[in-house]
Formats: sequence, C-alpha cells, structure tokens
Amino acid sequence: MKRKLVAGNWKMNGTNASLTTLQTLIATHRNPAVDILICPPATLIVQAAGLSADSPLQIGGQDCHSAASGAHTGEISAPMLADAGAGAVILGHSERREDHNESNALVAQKVSAAHAADLTAIICLGESLAQREAAQTLDVIAEQLRHSLPDTATGANTVIAYEPIWAIGTGLTPSTAQVQEVHDFIRALLRDRFGPDAAQAFRLLYGGSVKPSNAAEIFAIPNVDGALVGGASLTAEDFSPIVTALENAS
Ligand code: PGA
Repeated sequence: MKRKLVAGNWKMNGTNASLTTLQTLIATHRNPAVDILICPPATLIVQAAGLSADSPLQIGGQDCHSAASGAHTGEISAPMLADAGAGAVILGHSERREDHNESNALVAQKVSAAHAADLTAIICLGESLAQREAAQTLDVIAEQLRHSLPDTATGANTVIAYEPIWAIGTGLTPSTAQVQEVHDFIRALLRDRFGPDAAQAFRLLYGGSVKPSNAAEIFAIPNVDGALVGGASLTAEDFSPIVTALENAS
C-alpha cells in the first residue's frame, strides 16, 4: 500500500522563529499514518532537517537548478538540497512557471536532476482560470504531464500535484467533481505511459486553498492521495488538522 502524503509549501515565508511550527508538528504527530513533508525556504532547510532528524517529518526544497553545480549565481542544486538534509523538492510550481518562465522541458530537466540526487520530485501541474473557462483544462494537464515528466519517473521517486492556478491562495477550490475529473485523467495518462501497476504507485496530490475545513472532503475523492498545502502549512494550528484528516481518510 502506498502511503498518502501531506506536503507543506512555505513559499517565501519563514525565519528562525517559524521553526516552532516544526517542533509542534513533530510533537503532535509522533507516529503518523501518512507521510508528512515540509518545504521551508532554502535558508531554513539545514535547521529544519536537524530538528526533524529523529522524527517522521521530512524536509524538502521548493526548487532546484537543473545542473549539479556551476556558475549560476543565486541558484541551488539538487545535490546541495540533499546535502542540506532535504529528501524531496517541489518542481514546476505555477509561481515558478510564471515568475521565472519555467517551461515543461526545463521542469523535466530539474526532475531528472532531483532523481539523480535521490530526491523525490513533486511535480506541479495546473490550469489558469482562462484555460478552465475555455474548456482547455485536460489538454493543459496532458501537455504539462507529458513534457514535465522524464521517462525515469516512478511512483517511488515522483509525486504529481494538481494545482489549479485559480485556486492557489485565493480561497477558491474546485468542486469535488472537478478535482476527481483531473485526478482520474492524470491516473489514466500515467497508465497509458507507464502501465497499470506503475501508474497506481504514483501519489497524486491536490493543491490550492486546502484548509482544515475542506480537507476531509478533498481527501474522500478517489485518486487523491494527499495534498500540497501553501498558506495553511505555515502554522501547526492549521496544518495539523489537515494531517489528521488525511490519516482518517487512509
Ligand atoms: P495555497 O497554496 O494552499 O496557499 O492555496 C498551494 C500551493 O501553491 O502549493
């Protein structure tokens, strides 16, 4: 049985003072029935990994460069994340696709770099509001999945996060039918490409305004294997009930 996963993406939030959130999570979830991952800003990875070393809590990065090292001022590579104590990295988040013009091809290169460094890659896909309104959602997802996912991807080294851009940080969430349509579609695409057993091993996360009040409803949707949580991952008060909701759905 694959374990479900709840991942927190702190984005550009958090200083040393925020590490108390991790301490509370570690104290609250000593033997969780699901995987728990927090992706703090890169400046906190070493301390976060140190704090969670003897706990089930895992630490991840929010991006990495496609090269292992070199003259790329300001960038961080996958081996550096691993060396700092990360076990995973979020790649192709819509904020990076938009702010930094990241293409599917670049995301695929980064995913390969993450795999080479033994990091689990969490690949984000999702349509804009204009694309949804133009009934292009499934086409956008198919295109992103096809080109952002290298052939080396497996359920062990890769997680897929469906994050409709219009639901991120807005408080809006798709209907359960909309989430299920996309998650079923992603599973079918994985089946076509990797075969039925391998496709089943991938964890599919939903992301976009997940909060304590809607988590149980989202986790009851077939083919939803967890969540990628932004704003509600910043405090243990919000994140912990989401973890518990996923445990209850497992
Ligand atoms: P949100 O962000 O939970 O704040 O909507 C989700 C994400 O961007 O991963």
